[in-house]
Amino acid sequence: MLVLISLLLVVTAACSPSPPPVAAPSPYKLSGPLVSSATNMVTAWYLPKNPLTDRSLDNSKLSQDIKWGFRLFTNTPHEAPQFAPSKMSCNNCHLNAGQRERSLPLVGVAGMFPEYNRRSARLYSLNDRIVDCFLRSENATGGVEDELPSTTSPEVLALSAYLTWLARGSEVGKNPPWRGQNVIEASNLIPVEKLDPRRGEALFMEHCTNCHGEDGQGVAIGDKKPGPLWGPDSWNDGAGAARIYTLAGIIRYAMPYLDPGRLTDEEAQQIAAFVNSKPRPQYPFKHQDYRTEKLPPDSVYYRK
Ligand code: HEC
Ligand code: HEC
Repeated sequence: MLVLISLLLVVTAACSPSPPPVAAPSPYKLSGPLVSSATNMVTAWYLPKNPLTDRSLDNSKLSQDIKWGFRLFTNTPHEAPQFAPSKMSCNNCHLNAGQRERSLPLVGVAGMFPEYNRRSARLYSLNDRIVDCFLRSENATGGVEDELPSTTSPEVLALSAYLTWLARGSEVGKNPPWRGQNVIEASNLIPVEKLDPRRGEALFMEHCTNCHGEDGQGVAIGDKKPGPLWGPDSWNDGAGAARIYTLAGIIRYAMPYLDPGRLTDEEAQQIAAFVNSKPRPQYPFKHQDYRTEKLPPDSVYYRK
């Protein structure tokens, strides 16, 4: 592991400041339009589509917003501090700026909206979805100012411009095959009450602390730093990642960073149970969720 980390530091030193422009054709293995999930830290900065270096983007307002949307996505607390009091970037969960396989990729996803949202029991536009990630994953409701993101906030519009750009050429209404792949098979789900956060903690100490720290707050590796997994700077308890099976699906296929796919379904769920047994900011509007649809069994923070 130490060897890998030092290798990583060499690689990142050579790569900073990030993200570096990478010219096509790709030196790395791609899976369709995405960075393959079977890659390693060397590809951590690789972006099949990078608006900052894409010559087809001009100086129009739209092009500028696509570029700002990309910067918002990859450095959210810096670009939108009022909406991201957490220390989370969109990129922490949607790796490679949303262009990595099995890491909640967002390529081609814009064409699937509007879509029914179970939590709110209504149709969601892409902008609604982005607002929700701000309110919950970015804990926008925990800010010192009263301002909350809306579907017409400039930041939301810019992120929408970037994600819609990532869907150029995709068929509207056709579900991309790489969508929804961070899911553990239903037959392998362990009932939440049978999961043991202490077992999850032991696995976390074994597989995760090199980069996430024993305190879960994230260790800087070159210019990459994972977002805090719990505590006041993490996603709030109304976020998708605050659900045990949803988080387990991220961990199972996207982590550990250098060797994703190494954990078993069970291990990923034990670790997710541990991470989501920890304190995190409270989403103040939980009572408005799941008023029509049934509360999912893994929404543990809604049951307390
Ligand atoms: C803490 C991790 C996390 C962070 C940070 C995060 N997201 Fe997400 N995002 C998720 C999860 C988990 C889902 C899937 C939720 C589910 O299963 O319903 C998701 C779903 C989405 C979707 C819908 C994808 C689809 O296929 O329908 C979009 C769009 C999105 N996120 C955008 C963003 C943007 C923009 C940001 C930053 C403002 C962001 N996310 C930050 C975890 C995160
Ligand atoms: C080699 C370093 C490394 C290891 C080991 C590692 N991670 Fe990560 N992890 C990262 C990095 C880096 C990110 C952020 C990626 C980015 O922003 O591009 C991340 C992101 C995450 C995220 C998204 C949310 C957040 O807070 O950033 C979760 C969840 C996560 N890791 C869980 C785990 C778990 C659980 C393990 C152990 C099984 C693990 N990781 C092992 C480096 C690592």
